[in-house]
Amino acid sequence: MPYDSQNRPVIGIDLGTTFSSISFWTGQGVQTYSPRGSNVFQSVVYFDERSKEFIYDTVAFNSGIFEPSNVCIGVKRLMDNKDIKIKFGDRQFSPIDISAMILKYMYKSVQDMFPEGVYNASGVVVTVPYYFKANQLENTSQAAKKAGLNLVGIIQEPIAAALAYGCLHSSDNIKREETILIFDLGGGTFDLTIFRVKEDSENLIFEVLGIGGDDRLGGMDFDNALLKHIIQAEGIDFQSESNERLRKRGKQALMAEAIKAKETLSFTDSAYMAVLNVIPGVNVDRNFTRDEFQEIMEGYYERIRNIIKNTLNRANVTPEDINKVIKVGGSSKIPMFDSLLNDIVGKGKIYSDIDPSLCVSQGAAIYAAYLTSNLNTRKKIIIIPVTAHALGVEDAKGKFVVLIHENRKTPARKTLTFYTDQDNCTDVDVQVYQGNRRIAKENAHIGTVHVSGLIPAPKRTLEINITFEVKENQIVIVTVAQKESKIKKTEVLRLY
Ligand SMILES: Nc1ncnc2c1ncn2[C@@H]1O[C@H](COP(=O)(O)OP(=O)(O)OP(=O)(O)O)[C@@H](O)[C@H]1O
Ligand SMILES: [Mg+2]
Repeated sequence: MPYDSQNRPVIGIDLGTTFSSISFWTGQGVQTYSPRGSNVFQSVVYFDERSKEFIYDTVAFNSGIFEPSNVCIGVKRLMDNKDIKIKFGDRQFSPIDISAMILKYMYKSVQDMFPEGVYNASGVVVTVPYYFKANQLENTSQAAKKAGLNLVGIIQEPIAAALAYGCLHSSDNIKREETILIFDLGGGTFDLTIFRVKEDSENLIFEVLGIGGDDRLGGMDFDNALLKHIIQAEGIDFQSESNERLRKRGKQALMAEAIKAKETLSFTDSAYMAVLNVIPGVNVDRNFTRDEFQEIMEGYYERIRNIIKNTLNRANVTPEDINKVIKVGGSSKIPMFDSLLNDIVGKGKIYSDIDPSLCVSQGAAIYAAYLTSNLNTRKKIIIIPVTAHALGVEDAKGKFVVLIHENRKTPARKTLTFYTDQDNCTDVDVQVYQGNRRIAKENAHIGTVHVSGLIPAPKRTLEINITFEVKENQIVIVTVAQKESKIKKTEVLRLY
């Protein structure tokens, strides 16, 4: 069947901490939907007590100013724990529920652009940060399924951005090799990824050379720092207001203005802020300058500088090796990061022909086209990732023993030898974890391999070999072998 880009397209969804977007594969390229006059949606849910209905997007964010206890912002930061309860009045929801509601709302908004019953995406790819662990990937995938989406894949945000850049500049007879740095600073996370892009007449290869970042660093943190600064500078004493609701409402209104000022300052030298009755009788009416903002950002700036330098070092890439920098994420528009990047990797490398706010969903749409064989290229796209987290097992003392380290190119394989710690033990459970904490249980649990039928023997005599094999496609093959007992058990664990 020919590809129907209108009614049955493949689409990519960037499910962001603060903003999300949906793009589709046109058959030739990518386009981003603007169902409500904007090509991004705010990832915000609000429960309206009066109508007993959920509302979304900008209206939800604005409504949250008046009823802060009924709004949920930044649910993506909670995706590592599906048992968290998010309360709206007397109703409770999990992070998966809320993410599913946001996805459903976005998808429905696009569907409503078409006559009823006509639009139905034939494949959906949703993006996640590189730093997401197996359970966060699984929870995201569950949210997509709960939203009724026809999920064909999940892709990491920087890989999607690299695909958007790489595929949109690909042609049949091109031959190239370049090193690119993806600088992704969004609302909630900072992701840095270094790729080697190699292209010839047959292959388009994206090889990850190194990753770095911080999953708790983004625009939301800048907003909080900004808010704190304004409260201090203006001497606003929220505690003097005894009504909690008025306090929350005032803070939220101030926050909304602070965000606006921050975004304006990316294009101007000063921004005007006005909020009446932050608490009854107290007004904020001031000019906010870029210099003032830069001062507040100093600590973040240094953290980001260190992450970039460390990531380059770990990847064995010198600043001169970087051919292009691709900025991704709304916060990458802050001009001081241009100076930082120029300073570190040299001037003239920042690539500007790609929209930082849209390239992730666009890359996801390209990946959806690739997975469903709708991408009109004869070339094979090869993605060679590295592990985002260490993988290992729990030892008898509860410590985390690493088999595959983080930032390791995949496929990767490693065997370690363990011994039973009790006499005549016939069963063992090998607990597999992902993360970087020394106590195994503090990491993300990704599976258990149960082995039974070991021959009885004194403790510390039976040699048990555990092998991990990590494939490029987010699969870990765990093999537990015990020679004398003639046991060799293999289990496939998915990282999502
Ligand atoms: N012009 C701008 N200047 C500064 N910050 C901006 C600008 N435009 C957007 N932002 C900020 O960018 C953030 C949103 O970026 P983006 O949509 O890329 O993040 P996200 O995808 O929601 O987050 P993440 O990728 O971390 O999950 C918000 O904090 C927003 O205030
Ligand atoms: Mg993002």
